[in-house]
Amino acid sequence: MQLKDSILGRRSIRRYKDREVPLSLVGEIIELAKHAPSSGNLQNWRFVIVTDMKKREKLAEASLEQYWMVEAPIHIVVCNDYEKVKEHYGKMGRMYSIQNCAAVAYAIMLVAQEKGLGTCWVGAFDPEAVQRELNIPENMDPEIIITLGYSNDKKMPALRETLHYLSYFEEWGNRVKSFSTVDDVKKKLKSIKKRFK
Ligand SMILES: Cc1cc2nc3c(=O)[nH]c(=O)nc-3n(C[C@H](O)[C@H](O)[C@H](O)COP(=O)(O)O)c2cc1C
Repeated sequence: MQLKDSILGRRSIRRYKDREVPLSLVGEIIELAKHAPSSGNLQNWRFVIVTDMKKREKLAEASLEQYWMVEAPIHIVVCNDYEKVKEHYGKMGRMYSIQNCAAVAYAIMLVAQEKGLGTCWVGAFDPEAVQRELNIPENMDPEIIITLGYSNDKKMPALRETLHYLSYFEEWGNRVKSFSTVDDVKKKLKSIKKRFK
């Protein structure tokens, strides 16, 4: 699968098959994803891989009762070991530490997609409840929960704003008239959408 297919094919999956994901595959995904960039290469991300059903129920409950999460056989809780980042970067450290976690989270999602797995980024949760449930130390912020499993959903590529709307050239407010390279992505998108007809 090409990177383009992973990016365009990925959607937030909230329905999963009752099919186990081998831990070795989860390891493979994180092994690759941990090559994401981080400020000063501090790699302040830590992962708690949760498979236990009772724990998944508790995580769903802590996530404002998003009980669909329980169907996902794996929850990866991306934790932020922020202290070193704060030490290095002072005021900017907190923001960098979160950005680093976001970078690795998206990498996990793309690699998972490439391996035929579905994911969803869950950001709405009570961090203290998650810490309590998984014995995560106080100085380690749970930032993101990624649900992972074999998708039981078929979703078209998501709608996104046009590049014309999103981008400026050289300075704010200066619209880009056309990007000649965009046609290639549009063609790919069209061919993926065709599969849904
Ligand atoms: C910071 C962040 C927090 C999110 N939190 C949740 C969440 O708590 N529950 C959920 O179902 N989806 C959550 N999402 C997923 C978004 O709803 C989803 O990415 C968005 O609607 C676009 O859809 P797509 O991922 O299918 O392209 C979150 C995404 C991000 C980036």
